[in-house]
Amino acid sequence: MTEPSTPAPLRVLRFPELDSTNDEAKRLADAGAPAWTVISADIQRAGRGRRGRNWQSPAGNLYMSAILRPSASISVTPQLGFATALAVGEALVPLLPALSNLQYKWPNDVLVKGGKIAGILLEAAAGAGEGVAWVIVGIGINLGSHPRETSYPATSLAALGAAASPEALLREVSEALRRWVARWEAEGFEPIRRAWLERALGLGGPLGVTLPSEKLTGRFVDLDRDGALLLETATGPRRIAAGEIFSVAA
Ligand code: BTN
Repeated sequence: MTEPSTPAPLRVLRFPELDSTNDEAKRLADAGAPAWTVISADIQRAGRGRRGRNWQSPAGNLYMSAILRPSASISVTPQLGFATALAVGEALVPLLPALSNLQYKWPNDVLVKGGKIAGILLEAAAGAGEGVAWVIVGIGINLGSHPRETSYPATSLAALGAAASPEALLREVSEALRRWVARWEAEGFEPIRRAWLERALGLGGPLGVTLPSEKLTGRFVDLDRDGALLLETATGPRRIAAGEIFSVAA
């Protein structure tokens, strides 16, 4: 980590329609757009999720992507996904009815009452040496609607009896993200790791994780200093850097 510098001002570019806000952010980043340029669209024609999945993007939800240019090694950029989840959580909690349980699902999902309300797609390009040219933080938040045919339960602010405009939420998420990124630059991953664990889905309990070549089950014991999931399995501890949680049994 380097000394924190004064962050560039927030610049929001809003489009009625895009293929994907992440794709537009990449084009702008490659063309030299400064850090904290934030792109939003009312509709995405080709919204993308993690692992090549589609992200349904009708009007009424929030689709945004922020360009970041951290002075950091490319290897630590996945940590920004956890900072982003915290920023989304911070923006959503004040809007939710009392006793709504907001949780973070490893690695970067945000759930309310067990339903996925927000997804995060982080993409990064290497710069000189081990550095970063840009990181695109893509965020989709279900405000007015959520998809029905998903392999996981989904929800939206509307389904929870709450409401917010995409514009207002974009501002709240962006400001919270700026605070968490500044903290990350100043203090590293540890404060983010601790805050994320306070609301981690399934921590301390049984968990199943799908890896490219196998399925693992075990007890979710911790998140390590790089954001990898630490699972205690019948054959010993496993450190999982990338995978998908497939079950959380009570
Ligand atoms: C996931 O959970 O699979 C990640 C979903 C990320 C969706 C957002 S919507 C704004 C941005 N543009 C995209 O094409 N994807 C991200």
